[in-house]
Amino acid sequence: MVARVIPVDPFDLVIFGATGDLARRKILPGLFHRFRVGQMPDDSKIIGAARSKFDTNEFRDLIREAIQEFIAEKDRSDDQVEAFLECLDYVHVDATGDTGWKKLAGLLRENKIRAFYLSVSPSLFGSIAQRLSDTGIATSDSRIVVEKPFGHDLASAQALNADLLRCFDEKQIYRIDHYLGKETVQNLMALRFANSLFEPLWNSTHIDHVQITVAESLGVEGRGEYYDQSGAMRDMVQNHLMQLLCLIAMEPPSRFEPNAVRDEKVKVIEALEPVDPSEIVRGQYYDWNESKGYKEDANNPESRTESYLAMKVAVANWRWAGTPFYLRTGKKLRARLSEIAVVFRDPPHMIFPKMEGRRGNALIIRLQPDEGIKLRTTIKEPGPGGMRLTEVSMDMTFDNALGEDMHTEDAYERLIMDVIRGNQTLFMRGDEVEAAWAWADPIIGAWQESSQKPASYDSGGSGPEESLMLIHKDGRRWRAIGS
Ligand code: BG6
Repeated sequence: MVARVIPVDPFDLVIFGATGDLARRKILPGLFHRFRVGQMPDDSKIIGAARSKFDTNEFRDLIREAIQEFIAEKDRSDDQVEAFLECLDYVHVDATGDTGWKKLAGLLRENKIRAFYLSVSPSLFGSIAQRLSDTGIATSDSRIVVEKPFGHDLASAQALNADLLRCFDEKQIYRIDHYLGKETVQNLMALRFANSLFEPLWNSTHIDHVQITVAESLGVEGRGEYYDQSGAMRDMVQNHLMQLLCLIAMEPPSRFEPNAVRDEKVKVIEALEPVDPSEIVRGQYYDWNESKGYKEDANNPESRTESYLAMKVAVANWRWAGTPFYLRTGKKLRARLSEIAVVFRDPPHMIFPKMEGRRGNALIIRLQPDEGIKLRTTIKEPGPGGMRLTEVSMDMTFDNALGEDMHTEDAYERLIMDVIRGNQTLFMRGDEVEAAWAWADPIIGAWQESSQKPASYDSGGSGPEESLMLIHKDGRRWRAIGS
């Protein structure tokens, strides 16, 4: 099955920070891909805006190189790339001064959808929003897109929201969490709310626990300075893992509409219990072969920042009381693996002989790699010789079920097209981000006051020993990260 392409209306998209890493790696290659499959109308315009004193041709050269680097050769032809580059303009803009704004205004066309993508430091959100508004470049139906990190605590997130809301309405603001753009994450909503099979079982009567894992094999790479101020809590848990938790735990919204969905997510975040420090494990990776680890990567010998975090979280409401959510994420682990495992309770009475190693029913929602959904069931082992049980998974992996061409979009491509369509469903609302910080802040605050250091774990392993205990003490076990 080939993915359907539904064209969007012509638009003018201004990318602030257009020469930066995210723009080169994700935003512009993603837009090229949308152009290539025919979703982006020819008379759309993409305007790069940044500090660098490029002209349009130099900008196009930069983006040509980025496309060649980040898009496989089989997915592009020179003609397509050149036609796409024709849609690009460039303007040298000073985010905090007057340079470039007049020129930018002159490049924009009347009666076209206008979107402004701020791929810049959050410290510039306020001043760019203000200038877009003061110069009249932003109209009442323009959209503004902002990247994470959206603040580093509740107060800073509130300040960013206030800056944006001074110039734009909430319905114009698109706060990106790229996890919401992942195919399986959206399919999770289809699974829950387009089938009658799962919803009756979707509660603490039937679900024993939920595990959410986002494991990465890479370390902090060149981002040590940012990451050391952030750690796994701010970088991953407050946003990506929190979003996954919300989609699993939320009540069915009345409609698949931005505010109906986001209202339900906010309720989940507000229902989270404060996390007991004994239910949290923080870790830092170390590579014994190379005699160096996270501290060297972060260039901070005294660092207490966690590159790994595991915690047991309780959602205090009728649906989930008694069903814990175990979250874990970390860098330099054995494999890159993001998945959600919804583990069901055992049958109330087992009539068959005990099966060694039985793990029971589980729904495994795999985000990456090999995205798809599997349902683990217990069956009879084939053949004569008595009633022996074994476990098999019903495989709903997309490549198998729908064919390999079905899901080629990257999260960013999908989200940018949603901005153009004016659909905020997969973007975070201001109160949602603030609620997530209000939950995270006391946890981070307690670490700052404590003298406890993160536990060390081996690079390429499964995380600190202590994280095994976190779940073992409840009589449960983590799913394996890699083989
Ligand atoms: C980003 C984090 O938001 O998500 C990174 O800042 C992390 O530290 C990345 O590596 C993970 O995203 P993905 O899509 O590769 O799982």
